[in-house]
Amino acid sequence: MQGNFSYHNPTKLYFGEESLNYLKDELTHYGPKVLLNYGSGSVKRNGIYDQVVAILKEAGKTIIENPDVMTNPTLEKLDEGVKIARENDVDLILALGGGSVCDYSKAVAASVFYEGNYWDQFWLKQQNPAEGQRLLPVGCILTMAGTGSEMNAGTVITDAEHTFKVGHVFDDRLMPKFSILNPRFTMTVPDNQMKAGIYDIMNHIMEQYFSDFDDNTSDYLAEGLMRSLIVSSRIAVKNPQDYEARSNIMWTATWALNTLIGLGKQQDWMVHMIGHSVGAWTHAPHGYALASVSMAYYRRAMMPGLPKFVRFAKNVWNISGEGMTDQQIAEAGLQALKAWMLEIGLPLTISELGATRDMIPGITETTVVYPAGYLNLTKEDITEILKESM
Ligand code: NZQ
Ligand code: ZN
Repeated sequence: MQGNFSYHNPTKLYFGEESLNYLKDELTHYGPKVLLNYGSGSVKRNGIYDQVVAILKEAGKTIIENPDVMTNPTLEKLDEGVKIARENDVDLILALGGGSVCDYSKAVAASVFYEGNYWDQFWLKQQNPAEGQRLLPVGCILTMAGTGSEMNAGTVITDAEHTFKVGHVFDDRLMPKFSILNPRFTMTVPDNQMKAGIYDIMNHIMEQYFSDFDDNTSDYLAEGLMRSLIVSSRIAVKNPQDYEARSNIMWTATWALNTLIGLGKQQDWMVHMIGHSVGAWTHAPHGYALASVSMAYYRRAMMPGLPKFVRFAKNVWNISGEGMTDQQIAEAGLQALKAWMLEIGLPLTISELGATRDMIPGITETTVVYPAGYLNLTKEDITEILKESM
């Protein structure tokens, strides 16, 4: 293992079909006013909202509702949530939804007691709240598997006015205090969002896996997670009601991005940087935006990262490699990745998401670029990747 690191993950998880039963106990740790953030209504249609509200009422909580947290939450909506939390002096923020609601809740939690311009400080300048700044606690009841937001400190917010989507990973003070993961709650996720979530998970693992050449325990963990995801995704796309597959996907999502498999690694995250920009311009589901630029990106990274791509082919896709050169093995691995993406129905081009050639300069412009993984890209390279992804 390279480097020096500390590992502390403060999020307590409750997993399984009975997991919502533990909400009542968790609520005893917090004051009476609960800000309940949720999305555009799916939790009302599938009955999860009623279950949660009943538990909150039974626990004697005052519920302050903040509905309509949109997918890819905006700065405007963040301002609204901060205002509601300030006006109502809330004690706990409860996120009921997918990664968007969970990210958003952490963003509100960080900003409520910050006196300056929180957008500028936390997202544009990528700072963390000062030691001693009060932060509201967040609990998450997750309804969609993908982002890992339930056990990390990531918050991705979109400045819709400037078509700019930017994430900030706070320190562990902003990780949810607890998260409730009931795989049954994910059964009503629309087909496209389930698939987007699956690729988001895969790409989180790849972003961490494709860096460095040392022998690192983190990479073995990553390979195990990818293998599990590939098996379960194939089952889930055929039968979305398969509990075993959906529960494995949910658990894999959490471990794909709760900091563990990135330890001792430089990591990459450029597919996410390009994907965020594509998402801001096309409004595509996050995982679809990642999928649409992945093949062009990894084809570029393959030769500079050849030994890792060979390992990916062999350990993740079971390519024996007999009689093949390293380059051929690595190419076969990427081919297997592509075949799996097609098999589960992911978009492989940005044009499928509605991107047009005239958007390429804008998408390039709003992509954050830095040396990462096995590449040191320029803005011109981003343009080329986007063109190849048309
Ligand atoms: O609005 P509602 O009604 O909740 O509907 C949502 C939304 O339309 C729906 N949905 C969720 N659970 C459902 C359901 N529909 C029916 N039944 C259910 N059980 O699915 C749609 C997508 O939900 P959303 O929360 O937007 O998806 P996801 O979990 O993929 O979150 C995406 C956001 O997370 C950010 C992304 O950039 C994006 O803004 N990310 C956060 C990360 C982190 N915290 O570390 C990392 C990721 O890379 C990602 O960037
Ligand atoms: Zn992601």
